[in-house]
Amino acid sequence: MRERIVAGNWKMNTTPAEGAALLSGVAALKNEVRDCVTLVVAPPFTHLSQIVEAAQGTGIRVSSQNCAAEAKGAYTGEVSAQMIASLGVEFTILGHSERREYYGETSETLNKKMAQAYANGLAPIYCVGEKLDEREAGSHFDVVKAQIEEVVFNLTAEQYGKLVIAYEPVWAIGTGKTATSEEAARVCGVIRKAIREEFGLEAAEEVRIQYGGSMNPGNVKELMAQRNIDGGLIGGASLKAADFSQVVLYDN
Ligand code: PGA
Repeated sequence: MRERIVAGNWKMNTTPAEGAALLSGVAALKNEVRDCVTLVVAPPFTHLSQIVEAAQGTGIRVSSQNCAAEAKGAYTGEVSAQMIASLGVEFTILGHSERREYYGETSETLNKKMAQAYANGLAPIYCVGEKLDEREAGSHFDVVKAQIEEVVFNLTAEQYGKLVIAYEPVWAIGTGKTATSEEAARVCGVIRKAIREEFGLEAAEEVRIQYGGSMNPGNVKELMAQRNIDGGLIGGASLKAADFSQVVLYDN
């Protein structure tokens, strides 16, 4: 049985003070809820350290939103996986569509980032997803499969065990449009099948696949009812503790 994983991607939002307030709102969720779900928040780099400290004893885990492709050196403005891990951060989001689109991240870059994440003990939340024109052209399964093959298939079986995959159709991110639960589940099923073919049945049954793209208190139940969807990567709705809590509590 896969444990659900719900992660709040705060993106470039919140000052440190706002982030601390948001975290304490999420921490108000009861212990019994937090115990049956992996609950993650991904603040901006500037307050990772503070949020890790504030999250201590709450069961909430912390992720960065990115990490550098290189280990160290003359890379102005970059933040290495080692720096991030040294703060007590456990996860890193990699390959988010906004990174792919606005910062030109390719599979080649992402392979390097994955290697840095693993070398420093960060568990990647690896994002995949098709753009609107790819969905309309019917190539979404191929696009997502290629994003998996070009990066995930390079992992070792041991590395693979820590991986979380987030399926986020780009046209659904921040737009209020969601994939129907069947559409989302179909792509998540294709991802799991690709994993099975490469890493075997057991590995495929273990990997956690999140859905992301306008997931909110109104649609979470239907999405989570799908066999292949194990949680959510939440942007907009993670910025209000009440909404994020409702997403986490959807079946209570
Ligand atoms: P959204 O963002 O929930 O605001 O659509 C999801 C994401 O980009 O991770």
